Amino acid sequence: MAQGATIANEQASSPLSSANSITLRIARYNPEQDSASRFVEFAVPYEKWTTVLDAILAVKKHLDHSIAVRYSCRQATCGSCGMIINGKPRLACFTKIIELNSNVVTVEPMNNFPIIRDLAVKFERLFDTHRRVKPYLVRDDTEIESDEKEFSQSPEELEQYIQFANCIKCGLCNSACPTMATDSSFVGPQALAQAYRYVADSRDKGKDSRLKIIDDSHGIWRCHFAGSCSQVCPKGVDPAMGIQLLRGYMLGFKS
Ligand code: SF4
Ligand code: FES
Repeated sequence: MAQGATIANEQASSPLSSANSITLRIARYNPEQDSASRFVEFAVPYEKWTTVLDAILAVKKHLDHSIAVRYSCRQATCGSCGMIINGKPRLACFTKIIELNSNVVTVEPMNNFPIIRDLAVKFERLFDTHRRVKPYLVRDDTEIESDEKEFSQSPEELEQYIQFANCIKCGLCNSACPTMATDSSFVGPQALAQAYRYVADSRDKGKDSRLKIIDDSHGIWRCHFAGSCSQVCPKGVDPAMGIQLLRGYMLGFKS
């Protein structure tokens, strides 16, 4: 383990010199071996474009390849690289070192998810709750009966749900949610936001069955409106508002 090690700046010709470096603190924990997590520290040079994921991968490449981290797209699309960065749930590939305004960057696994190892967490609960709310259009018909080639929507109908369709299933909202921490059966803001996304879609016919699924003490009524889910979403989804709007359907204010 190269604890306290330093990475040479590979961009020596850059306007930023190796004097620009951070202390990267990475939480290490292997549930099969360790009784508690610990932090290891690395000095990592950065440029103005360096992301937290870049810094972690530089450590993996040069100093300690055993650090576990999940990522794929590196462009805030796949939802794989969520973690706690300086105390807040963020995407590591979408967070530049420079915007953190700190010489110390601490990375930890997301809260409310079981840890596989180090920064990688299990997504089973999120995928299960997401699947439960039927995240697809429910229709009785098997084919379009009119002359039209598709189920058309007006811009106004699209506007009802489009921000919720931007969800990348990163789990940051579930990580930030205090109710997720105290109720292991809570369906969570991600799944509730997706329930709203399909309930509000004019092409969908599954509203009643979907509302029935979330009408539960561990469903929509469990949310206490802390609002932290909406504050951390990297895609501009507002799960707290979606939950409010869903309650409008359930209480008969919307149809
Ligand atoms: S609602 Fe936002 S924070 Fe939650 S899973 Fe979707 S993209 Fe991530
Ligand atoms: S690596 Fe895909 S969202 Fe960060």
